[in-house]
Amino acid sequence: MTDTDRVLSNFTQTVREDREYAKKKLRIGIIGTGWIAEAHVESYLKQPDVEIVAMADLIPGKAEKFAEYYGITGVNFYPDHKSMLEREKLDAVSVCTYNTEHASCTIEALNRGVHVLLEKPMTATVEEAAEIMRAEKKSGKLLSIGFQPRMDANMQQIKKIVDSGALGKIYYIQTGGGRRRGIPNSTFIEKKTAGIGALGDIGCYSLDMVLNAVGYPKPLTASGYTSNFFGTSTDYQKPEDAARFDVDDFAAAFIRLEGELILDFRISWAMHLDTPGDTVILGTKGALRIPSTECWNGSVGGPMKLYHDLAGEQVETIIPILEEDESGLFDKKIRSFLDAIIFKLPPPVPSTQILYNQAIINAIADSAEKGREVEVYIPEV
Ligand SMILES: NC(=O)c1ccc[n+]([C@@H]2O[C@H](COP(=O)([O-])OP(=O)(O)OC[C@H]3O[C@@H](n4cnc5c(N)ncnc54)[C@H](O)[C@@H]3O)[C@@H](O)[C@H]2O)c1
Repeated sequence: MTDTDRVLSNFTQTVREDREYAKKKLRIGIIGTGWIAEAHVESYLKQPDVEIVAMADLIPGKAEKFAEYYGITGVNFYPDHKSMLEREKLDAVSVCTYNTEHASCTIEALNRGVHVLLEKPMTATVEEAAEIMRAEKKSGKLLSIGFQPRMDANMQQIKKIVDSGALGKIYYIQTGGGRRRGIPNSTFIEKKTAGIGALGDIGCYSLDMVLNAVGYPKPLTASGYTSNFFGTSTDYQKPEDAARFDVDDFAAAFIRLEGELILDFRISWAMHLDTPGDTVILGTKGALRIPSTECWNGSVGGPMKLYHDLAGEQVETIIPILEEDESGLFDKKIRSFLDAIIFKLPPPVPSTQILYNQAIINAIADSAEKGREVEVYIPEV
């Protein structure tokens, strides 16, 4: 068989499989029917080519109530991800569990030949992220990590500006954000369910915003700090929440990246300040200021400003905000995942990038615990 024959044969096979997919609806399972599962299901319900056929939750009756609320019928319910994946023939799952269950659910699904849309942060530890990637490689199935801010036209604009060369060589990035008071409760504030606090919950967005823009360079070292003065205090929390709070509510770090790039980072669920600052990208030809938002959730808080020189003058160019609504971003996140399955496209948010995001988060926590700078540990995949 010549190379041309081989290409043609592969193409014909892909077209045949796409037609098959187009004829049948993708069978979707939801693992974890808590808060974020609502956004997933609302978006799946808008898609004409999927059917939600199974739901699993550890809390008895929770998945049943969830399906009833959305008027979804013909669904099989399971007490955990394992029993669901054992018995159901699924095309894809959304993993919407708390962080410490991300790895086991995702690995089990991939091992059973099921595509996975995994909520952020990827995992609680970087070892788990690497284990997931080994399962992904072995299975050949699609894995995408649920960073919906990637779908935001304003976020994409940041990357376009960097890629245009308008900033020149980038040497320093200041990023992060946070809330004056905005500690979530439920499963977010305990190590056994969340693994990490603000650092993982909203820190992963800040890191992704800038690292995606600059092409996800390899992280080298980190000097990190974490604290939880607000989360553990009954001045700011209900006594029962303060008593079980054992994750971070504030983190700061100085990170060195390959390519002589410095990342100065801070994130907060609670502090006596509205924001620890805008995101700033400094380059040899220009700089970009990206306004922060009050409730830091990975969006652009207002028009960005490009600082540069023009005809010998120091000038600023305002980049107007492009309107996006948050439910629209979720629809794009779900649709891009489904299209990647159907048309065999690369994952919209690949694990190969988010491994570095997770490695930085881990290194910050590790450095904070050790009280010194550490090398960023990136396991072999
Ligand atoms: N993308 C976003 O904007 C966004 C927003 C909020 C939360 N999240 C992420 O979504 C995830 C879930 O957050 P949440 O607020 O929905 O949490 P939640 O605690 O409300 O819901 C998680 C549910 O998963 C269930 N669960 C845990 N392990 C399970 C297993 N093995 N099998 C079946 N069910 C299991 C729990 O019983 C619980 O009902 C977290 O990782 C969080 O970081 C993402």
